[in-house]
Amino acid sequence: MPLVSILPQLKRAQQCHYALPLFDTVDMYSTDAMFAALEEKKAPAMIAIYAGALDRPNARAFAAYIRARAEEATVPVSLMLDHGGSFEHCMQAISLGFTDVMYDGSKLPFAENVANTRAVVRAAHAIGLAVEAELGHVGFGSEYQEFGAQRKGFTNPDDVERFVAETGVDILAVAIGTAHGLYAGEPQLDLDLLREIRARVDIPLSLHGGSGCSDQQFRDAITAGIAKVNVATDLFVTTARRLTEAARAEDMHYFAFGKIAVDSFIERCGHYLDVFGATGNG
Ligand code: 13P
Repeated sequence: MPLVSILPQLKRAQQCHYALPLFDTVDMYSTDAMFAALEEKKAPAMIAIYAGALDRPNARAFAAYIRARAEEATVPVSLMLDHGGSFEHCMQAISLGFTDVMYDGSKLPFAENVANTRAVVRAAHAIGLAVEAELGHVGFGSEYQEFGAQRKGFTNPDDVERFVAETGVDILAVAIGTAHGLYAGEPQLDLDLLREIRARVDIPLSLHGGSGCSDQQFRDAITAGIAKVNVATDLFVTTARRLTEAARAEDMHYFAFGKIAVDSFIERCGHYLDVFGATGNG
């Protein structure tokens, strides 16, 4: 089927208390494996390209490749822009055929984040796409002890209703203790804060920085109201480790590396689909 906007699927996930993953892809191996995992698990999901990759010379061709792979898929898949840093990024992605966009104004003052998000929402809604925005700021795992673990950047629940009402945003990324990349220490999630945010608005809530959380933390966060979980680092770190191990063997064939990479991505994506309860919901 053609690529879809993921919003109806996310609303269903929210109602039925499971979550859909967003997997960041970087190449054909990771993309092919993501489609294979989604088919195998009969699950919908977002496959995403990080905004920084829009500047690469292959951005148009890569988006077209994902679009073509989706045509052959039997499960609903959205191609989402991850962390668009500007209105222009989001429009560029839409022009390349993305079906949902995240605009990330989380480092900006509240009013500026509202104004920029609203502009992206207006343009995206005009052509039927959904928009995610971030309120509060999810930092990096490398600075976790100085940032997330100190509750820095956490979403203020008192801002949530106003942000959603004034922007018209469809999906809200919240900062409740996760971080992007490998964590220094262990992630600690504030589920009371999450429940408070959940009670203030009824749009799907998104958890970034999925890599490094335990299966139980995912289950608890989904029970407390998360409907979308972003995962990237673990897919690439685990796969790189497996490739490094394989490379120690004598006479490794180039094609064998490709298979190891694809199998690794399929296994990791399948794991997350099962833990999030997305399996069987395509
Ligand atoms: P991780 O790389 O920590 O899994 O985070 C992914 C993410 O949130 C992308 O937006």
